Amino acid sequence: MNKESANSLLGIFTTTVRGFLSTSKRPKSHFQSPLYSQTPMVMRPISDAAVEKAAASIHPHRDPNTLSNYNAWRTQHTTANYEIDFDNKRLHGSVTLTLKKLADERKIVLDTSYLDVSAVTIAGKKVDWELAAKRIEPYGSPLTISLGEQHVASTSEVSVDIEVSTTKDCTALQWMTPAQTSNKKQPYMFSQCQAIHARSLLPCQDTPDVKSTYTFNLRSPLPVVASGLPTGAREFKAGKGGESGTLLYSFHQEVPMPSYLFAVASGDLASASIGPRSTVWTGPEELTDCQWEFEADTEAYIQTAEKIVYPYAWTQYNVLVLPPSFPYGGMENPVFTFATPTLISGDRANVDVVAHELAHSWSGNLVSCASWEHFWLNEGWTVYLERRIQAAVHNDERIRDFSALIGWKALSDSIAQFGEDHEYTKLIPNLKGQDPDDAFSSIPYEKGSTFLYHLEKLIGVEKWDKFIPHYFTTYKGRSLDSYEFKATLFDFFASDADASKKLNEIDWDTVFYKPGFPEKPNFDTSLADACLDLANKWQALNEGKSDFKPSADDISKFTSQQSYVFLEAVQGQPSPLSASLVETMGKEYAYASSKNVELVSRFYVIALRAKADQFYKDAAALAGRVGRMKFVRPLYKELLKVDAPLARETFEKNKDFYHPICRSMVEKMLAGNANVGPF
Ligand code: BES
Ligand code: ZN
Repeated sequence: MNKESANSLLGIFTTTVRGFLSTSKRPKSHFQSPLYSQTPMVMRPISDAAVEKAAASIHPHRDPNTLSNYNAWRTQHTTANYEIDFDNKRLHGSVTLTLKKLADERKIVLDTSYLDVSAVTIAGKKVDWELAAKRIEPYGSPLTISLGEQHVASTSEVSVDIEVSTTKDCTALQWMTPAQTSNKKQPYMFSQCQAIHARSLLPCQDTPDVKSTYTFNLRSPLPVVASGLPTGAREFKAGKGGESGTLLYSFHQEVPMPSYLFAVASGDLASASIGPRSTVWTGPEELTDCQWEFEADTEAYIQTAEKIVYPYAWTQYNVLVLPPSFPYGGMENPVFTFATPTLISGDRANVDVVAHELAHSWSGNLVSCASWEHFWLNEGWTVYLERRIQAAVHNDERIRDFSALIGWKALSDSIAQFGEDHEYTKLIPNLKGQDPDDAFSSIPYEKGSTFLYHLEKLIGVEKWDKFIPHYFTTYKGRSLDSYEFKATLFDFFASDADASKKLNEIDWDTVFYKPGFPEKPNFDTSLADACLDLANKWQALNEGKSDFKPSADDISKFTSQQSYVFLEAVQGQPSPLSASLVETMGKEYAYASSKNVELVSRFYVIALRAKADQFYKDAAALAGRVGRMKFVRPLYKELLKVDAPLARETFEKNKDFYHPICRSMVEKMLAGNANVGPF
């Protein structure tokens, strides 16, 4: 195929598929807004080979971030047989994909990224395969498996066995030496696949639009967890030459899930109960603290979510508390939420992250966005549910709006970071040719949840609460895009004249495609007012306009969240505090000595902006001790401004500690790009 026809086919690909969806689900004019049509943006150059490949697909699909031909063949079941090789920092073994034929297509194209593939067989017989020699950035190297005539003509399903191992460039895994762990006794490894890193762990159709059941057989010298229900450990093998023996740990996931939820971790792990269907897993030394942090709330969260949506589908809800280099607050891997140890602040102040990850059990894990362009359907719904859960558990509706106000601040920061007209500030950004990690920010979370909040108020909570279980039942086990969401909403309220009228009055083009801020709802400010009042007192004091005497009493009635809002309000003030006032705040409010990283990191940002150099070392030490990007990014950003050599030295000292995603973020920041990863 020549380039011109390939390009025009690509054009057809995008317009027809989307056009098809839009005409079938809703009026065409709603699809591509004339007002907010996707603005031109700087796209990564896509190689000719990629264009050819995508154009060659005669079964186009709606996810632009996979190279797989998932509309021709679709994964039904995945078995991963892997040995966890700590010495060589790799997984090796075989992956079997059972795929269903959807079209007469002889080639199965799978996503891979930095994988070593050594053989592909079907029923023990070798088949032709090719791993693209050149990567197609940022999507990896497609693995093309050519089937014999017989598979296409007479079978509706095929099982391909792929011999494979991960490589040192794997972006989904972090490997730690014993020296890098807290008790320094054993090595540790863990995965993080969202958004498109699963392809560097196993060949797969790496799109949230495909769901598969899973079997995990993972051989390791240390306990293993994975995103399935544990089915036991067996087949002990003695180690060679004094090495530890290994066991085969198995897990089964019978609820179909997308590849980005594939998860595994192994290390010196112990577990304790945190509820009737929940355990927490972590290092033996940390176990008791972790248990205390979560045991009061976990079951209450599950039961509350069940009342809002419907019964929990994944049998167990467990939390794995990872080493401090885990780059996120939490990751909703089914059966085992992965969580940062910064949640363990000894005050249960940060368990809201558990409510969030648990809520994903419905929004995201059962009902998934069809592509990362529709990520708000995962995160917006999850934030919406998380805040409903919190308000219900604490029997205080004000908490919901208070959290929404915190979220609004995060939204403002993200919009400021990208710029108000940026593609990534739309509810549905165009991610064609893009790395979804680059688009990641608070925007889908807050714009998404604000929109759902708006719908609730517009339609009325009583009616809306009937839509919630309907929506999650309709799409249970499936993936959807924003247009299907809209169609389902209209369908559900079709016989309700009042609700229909209100839905019709929504400017859907604006909601879906307008960059920048949505309209701000009237959030209740009663819990935030005290925080802002206190921040104003500090501002007046700083400007020499007041004789306010700060003391511990000022915040004695504050929740930790109120302290976060207070600290962020101070951060947002036009002039930095004086260094001596920072000192006073740190002492009087005990922020400087807090074990709660949410508090102390916000405090250090204030200290760095104030050029309070007595805190530089502590701030740098925190940036080297905690690898959660939410904290690492602002600390480096501010450190770079006041003491760049210290920032560089901190990175050099700790770069092996950071997760690959976090490491590359900091590298970009040190290279002068301060705007990376606005979350
Ligand atoms: N699924 C996300 C984490 C994620 C998103 C990882 C995109 C990779 C790519 C998770 O549910 C999440 O949102 N975590 C938040 C916590 C939450 C309370 C907002 C986090 O990590 O801070
Ligand atoms: Zn989330």
